[in-house]
Amino acid sequence: MSVFSDAISNYLSPIKDLLDDPTVSEIMINGAEEIFVERKGLVYKVPNKFQNEAALLAAFRSVAQSVGRVIDQDSPRLDARLPNGSRIHVVLPPMARRGTTVAIRKFAKEELTLKDLISSGALSAAGARFLDIAVFLGKNIIVSGGTGSGKTTLLNILGGRVPKAQRLIIIEDSAELQIHSEHVVPFEARKANDDLRVKEVSIRELVLSAMRLRPDRVIVGEVRGEEALDLIQVMNTGHDGSMGTVHANNPLDTCTRLESLCLIGDTRIPPDAIKKMVGSAVKIIVQCARYHDGGRRVSYISEVLGVDNHGNYIVKHIFRWVQTGKDAKTGKYIGEMVPCNYVPSFFSDIVVNKLPFPRSTFTTPDWVEKLEQADAA
Ligand SMILES: Nc1ncnc2c1ncn2[C@@H]1O[C@H](COP(=O)(O)OP(=O)(O)OP(=O)(O)O)[C@@H](O)[C@H]1O
Ligand SMILES: [Mg+2]
Repeated sequence: MSVFSDAISNYLSPIKDLLDDPTVSEIMINGAEEIFVERKGLVYKVPNKFQNEAALLAAFRSVAQSVGRVIDQDSPRLDARLPNGSRIHVVLPPMARRGTTVAIRKFAKEELTLKDLISSGALSAAGARFLDIAVFLGKNIIVSGGTGSGKTTLLNILGGRVPKAQRLIIIEDSAELQIHSEHVVPFEARKANDDLRVKEVSIRELVLSAMRLRPDRVIVGEVRGEEALDLIQVMNTGHDGSMGTVHANNPLDTCTRLESLCLIGDTRIPPDAIKKMVGSAVKIIVQCARYHDGGRRVSYISEVLGVDNHGNYIVKHIFRWVQTGKDAKTGKYIGEMVPCNYVPSFFSDIVVNKLPFPRSTFTTPDWVEKLEQADAA
């Protein structure tokens, strides 16, 4: 709460306990009378209420104002980051039919590490080691997943594994990534604001600038518009090891989604050529998922091998998460990430660089094969 001035803290007093509670990761306000929170990946209703719609609106107007933004009938949607790193999104009525609707993604005080992901079962030790190697070898990586599936968190971790001597240019819509490395240059896009007489500076423009700023690698926090084409071009022009996140439900969809984003812009490149560019730019896709038990896990680590003669992307899974059961008491899924019997095309890079990752690590264990046979029967 200390990030807010006394006046704003006052406005936000109905949700003070939620803002202060470290076990709450997200607060969802659906009008003055209905508030839900997320704890450990699961969503619960809480008794907190704002006095009325006017009090709720006043609270988030003042929050918006505190970060130099306006929310009113002319701009009834707000996407903003608070000084403590939390992210908020607000939609006003009448678009929001229940009343002012807000989601606050609280800034995680403890940053997750690869080790944390291994110990919570989101990744296997071999999967984590493999991702580390892919980053080290400068493979272009797309982290893909649905909303809130853990993409930004994982990209943050992977960005932190880039060899220290490399110059990393990071471009985001609203700054969320906190990559700890020696040579990091972060950029944040700017929205147009007539009152302040500022024009928009888009992600796309910043990617173009990045190219002239001698990057070793470029990281685009979230690829959701025509900047996809620029990132693909960055990836195809020797900035190996560039990364980004994309909203998609599986690794194959990630390629298709990138392709359609590339085509949004006014491009004179024929669609077939775009497809080939996507197929050769993206090397590794890390698929994040939020499962029904509340767990966030990496569901696939896959390699993209290009496009076949029929124009289909060739995507091979290297690791995947397999569910084997469910804990009767907690309802949590039991399972683990397993290799898929596929040796990535760049295995020779691993050998030549003397990275300790034997070929046998890609072999599917017998129990999984038995499970699959049982499924097929
Ligand atoms: N492996 C994980 N285990 C537990 N919590 C996680 C994990 N990954 C992410 N989280 C938490 O889940 C929430 C959403 O994560 P994150 O912001 O990375 O998702 P996202 O996919 O980038 O979401 P969006 O689509 O909104 O950008 C955060 O509170 C984060 O701390
Ligand atoms: Mg994100």
